Amino acid sequence: MGKTGPHDELPDLLAHHLRLEPDNEHVRHQLAMLTGQQTDSAPAGYVQQVFDDYADRFDDHLVGELRYQVPQQLVTWLTAQHPAGRLQRVLDLGCGTGLVGHHLQGRCEDLIGVDLSARMLDKARERGPYTGLHQADVLTHLQAAPVATRTPPHTWRSWLALTGSPS
Ligand SMILES: C[S@@+](CC[C@H](N)C(=O)[O-])C[C@H]1O[C@@H](n2cnc3c(N)ncnc32)[C@H](O)[C@@H]1O
Repeated sequence: MGKTGPHDELPDLLAHHLRLEPDNEHVRHQLAMLTGQQTDSAPAGYVQQVFDDYADRFDDHLVGELRYQVPQQLVTWLTAQHPAGRLQRVLDLGCGTGLVGHHLQGRCEDLIGVDLSARMLDKARERGPYTGLHQADVLTHLQAAPVATRTPPHTWRSWLALTGSPS
């Protein structure tokens, strides 16, 4: 018999936990990840907790250590589409700590951020460039928003890195 690793028992432990608490969406999601099951999306509560826990080290880790450059690349692309002047309204979906807002500063009239994580939104608020910040799921927010605020050309959306998760 082969040697067992420190995490080999995790799926069984999670499955046992789920039998005791069938409504625990965190455990259900972790078990799905560990056993390679495809799901439509991570539960909102799970995303919220992961990014609440990550918020304090997100910028240092992603930008400082991993050299994350998606926000400035996106803003470069976005502003190149509008060489004539400032953007009117930008909806930053999954705005996180506000790195897109940082790079967009002074380049748009109205900058709205939406994110599930309150702690990530706190960081975006501290950064300052947002005219509005909403704690919500992006799809729920878009479905609830008036048509004029979610339809191009009035709105330019920065769908960003929603699939990223901390290590
Ligand atoms: C990897 S971070 C990227 C943050 C930012 N866009 C950036 O590039 O720096 C992903 C962010 O999306 C948020 N997020 C993930 N799924 C979401 C959803 N369904 N609705 C709202 N926010 C979501 C997370 O809370 C997190 O702050």
